[in-house]
Order: sequence, then C-alpha cells, then structure tokens
Amino acid sequence: MTSKQQDVIIRNAVIFDGTGTSGRTGDLAIKGDRISAIDSSLDLEASEEIDAGGKALAPGFIDAHTHDDRIVLSDPSMACKVSQGVTTVVTGNCGVSIAPVTITERPPGPLDLICPRPSDFYATFADYFSALEASPPSVNVIAQAGHASLRVGVMDRFDRPASDTEIDGMKALLRQALRDGAAGLSTGLYYPPANAAPTEEIEALAMVVKEEGGFHSTHMRDEGDGVVDSLNETFRIGRTADIPVIVSHHKCVGLANHGRSAETLKIIDAARAKQPIGLDVYPYVASSTILQKDRLGISSQTIVTWSDKVEGLEGRDIEEIAGEMGLSIEETVDAISPAGAIYFMMDERDVRAIMSYPPTMIGSDGLPHDRHPHPRLWGTFPRVLGHYCREENLFPLETAVHKMTGLTAKTFGLKDRGVLGEGAYADLVLFDPDEVIDSASFDAPQTPAEGIERVFVNGETVWRDRKSTDARPGRVLRSGLSAARH
Ligand code: ZN
Ligand code: CU
Repeated sequence: MTSKQQDVIIRNAVIFDGTGTSGRTGDLAIKGDRISAIDSSLDLEASEEIDAGGKALAPGFIDAHTHDDRIVLSDPSMACKVSQGVTTVVTGNCGVSIAPVTITERPPGPLDLICPRPSDFYATFADYFSALEASPPSVNVIAQAGHASLRVGVMDRFDRPASDTEIDGMKALLRQALRDGAAGLSTGLYYPPANAAPTEEIEALAMVVKEEGGFHSTHMRDEGDGVVDSLNETFRIGRTADIPVIVSHHKCVGLANHGRSAETLKIIDAARAKQPIGLDVYPYVASSTILQKDRLGISSQTIVTWSDKVEGLEGRDIEEIAGEMGLSIEETVDAISPAGAIYFMMDERDVRAIMSYPPTMIGSDGLPHDRHPHPRLWGTFPRVLGHYCREENLFPLETAVHKMTGLTAKTFGLKDRGVLGEGAYADLVLFDPDEVIDSASFDAPQTPAEGIERVFVNGETVWRDRKSTDARPGRVLRSGLSAARH
C-alpha cells in the first residue's frame, strides 16, 4: 500500500519504461530510494511536484562500458555522466581494473589510462568498495576484474603466456574479487600486457567465473583483419566455461574491413542462438586509447589526447606534431609516449548497423582522465537519442532507451534497475526528446549535452538546471550475476 504522502511526483510525462515498449503519458511517484507508484494519473501528494509538460521520463541510463574505476572517487560528481542521464556505470573494462593490484612502479599501458600512479590501485575489491562506500559518487557502480590487472599482480613480464603457477595466482585473485562483489572478468587481448595470453589462459580464469557466478567481457584480440577469429575465440571461452560473454565496443577497424559488420553481425546472430552473447557500441567513427604505432597505419587521422612526456600536445594532430619536431610519425610516438590518442578508423555504415542490431547496448568507453578526451565521454547517450534516433531515424525512441536501460540491466543481471515499475529503484532521467543532443565535439570534448533536464539516482536529484547537485547517492552494485548465485 502506498500512503498518500510521497517525496516527489513527476506529472504529465511520456513514460518510457525501458522494456522497449512505446511511451505512455502518466505520473510517477518517488518515495525514499524507490518508485512508489506509476499510473496514468496519481491521486497522491508529494513534497515536490514536477510538471514534466509532456517530456520523456525513462530509467536512468546504464553505461555498459566505462573506465570510470577511479573517477568515481576522484570526481564523485560524475558530471560527465550524470549530464547525459547516466545513473549507473560498468567499470573495469578492456582487461584494466583498479583492483586487485599491488605494484610499486608506473603500470604498463593501458592500465595507466585509469591509474597512472601505483598508489591509485587497490589491493582488493573489498578495499575499493569500502573506499567507494565511505565517499560515494553520484552514480551506481558495477565493477569487473581485469585480466591485465591480474597479470600485473603475478607476472614479471607480459610478453609470454602465464605459467601454471601464475594462472593459479590469478585464479585466486579473481575468486576473491568475485566474492568481494566484482561482477565479472574483462579482458583486453589486443593490448601488450595481455596479447601473449593464449585462449587457454582465459578459459582457466573463466572457469572461476563459472564457479563464482558472473560474466566475461572482452576487448577482443583483433577488431580488424582477424575480427572473425576473435569473435570465435570469445564464443569459445563462453562455451568452455558456460558463462555469458560480452563483445566490448564492437567495431570493424581499418579501411580494408569497412563494411564487414554485415558479416560479423550475422556470425554473432548465429552464435546467439546457442549461447548467451551481448555486445555494446559507442556512436562515433573514431576510437580512443593509448598511443600505439600499430594503430597509425589504419587511422585516417590521429589526435593526441594526452602525453606524460611532452606538455601541450593534447588536442593536436600527430602529423602536425611530427612536422614540428622534424621526426617521422613513428619517432614522434616514441618521443611523446606514454600518451593517448583518438583514431579515426571506422566506417559510419558499420557504426549504424551495429548500433541498430537489436541486442546491442550503448556504452561510452569514455576515458575520464584524458586531458583532451574523445567526446564520447560527455556525448554518447544524448548523441544516440538526438542524432541517431531523432535526426537520423535509426530506430524509435523506445528502442534507443531500451538499449541504454532494460537491455543493459538484463545483460548484467541488475535487479530492480533499468526498467520502471513500482518498487524499482528511482534511477530516472527526465529529458526533452525534441531538444536532447550531444554538444561535446572533437574540438571541445568536455561540453555538457542539451536537453537532459533532471536526473535522479536512488531517489535523489544529481543533475538539474544544467548542473550537478551536491547529492552523492550512488551505490556499489554487488547484486550482479555473481551475487545472484551466492
Ligand atoms: Zn577497449
Ligand atoms: Cu574500453
């Protein structure tokens, strides 16, 4: 029974419930951290009444792919995400996680994208989660343990497969991480700290995920010429351990592979008939990660996002920098690394095909510590809603919302989030479907989006009047697939 007095009532909203069904006009009430009622018209009273005036009300967006492990502590307002309507972030992607890691030197890239200093890491997920709970961010956090982070803990060098003893060491670290509440295992088999790992090494770790509960997500070994082999490797790991797998930021990189999403999506679709497979995408033709030579040949343009060697390079084209330094591009990479970059190397048609594929979730892959970040960090969700959905008509609004909410919650096993209903957590975004649009660009990447009017996390307002509030109601979500089995 709902008593009459509520905390907040939002009236006259077009409510998208996150399941993919079309919006319906109605009222929604919040009491404490939960949605207390939803109906076409509510005969209730509240301390605050909001007239939505026909704007859209949806479950708060879940960012399926982030590197927010450390920024949730260092900048708990999380303005880059709440300004987009994001209320939950999935961290620890691409094999890189803030825990469980104990080191004394600067970590190898790409770990330095999230934690450049040894002291940035946590020895256990229990320690990390305690730190988050002692000083919570504005958003909820669901965290994965990264394979490269595990490797750093047990191996002296990374250009070889792990020995049996080292695999046992990683299994023990992973088991503890999952028992502490990590939701799964991520890999970044493309990257140097992990690319010498054979499939069997990941399968051994995936068996621990099977035993403890959870999923496996992967930045695959190859997203270019070898993308089909990499998909098959990913599916094999999932079958061996009988766990769900998630293909991170699916793309086909390099001119030679443009258009191949027609092939990869067919392969994914056939495999999905036999095993659980998810995937995510960000809505841009450019990627971003550490500066690496192997990317330059297949990138039509490369922009430096940060350099820890040479100051003032962020936002600038690598060719221009090379010209000024009087060096070849390769020599320039050596001269300015460690560094990060944005690479233009995907095809717009592939991005659209992958985004439109019904099982695809939206994930930003934003890099929050980059000095001149890829605009996906501040723009992903409004860009899908405003550009791809409204302007380009790629799919209806209820589908766009589903790809950011209900689908994602289901894939990650989140309970009472991602779909609106009585008793669900009050993670909500109120936005103007006619105005919502990304403002972040490659030139000005840290610009908040238009049209996101108000954002609630666990019943508290975290974004209003184009500003973060002081509320920090985010929680650690240990209730993923892993906790469901404990
Ligand atoms: Zn990645
Ligand atoms: Cu990533």
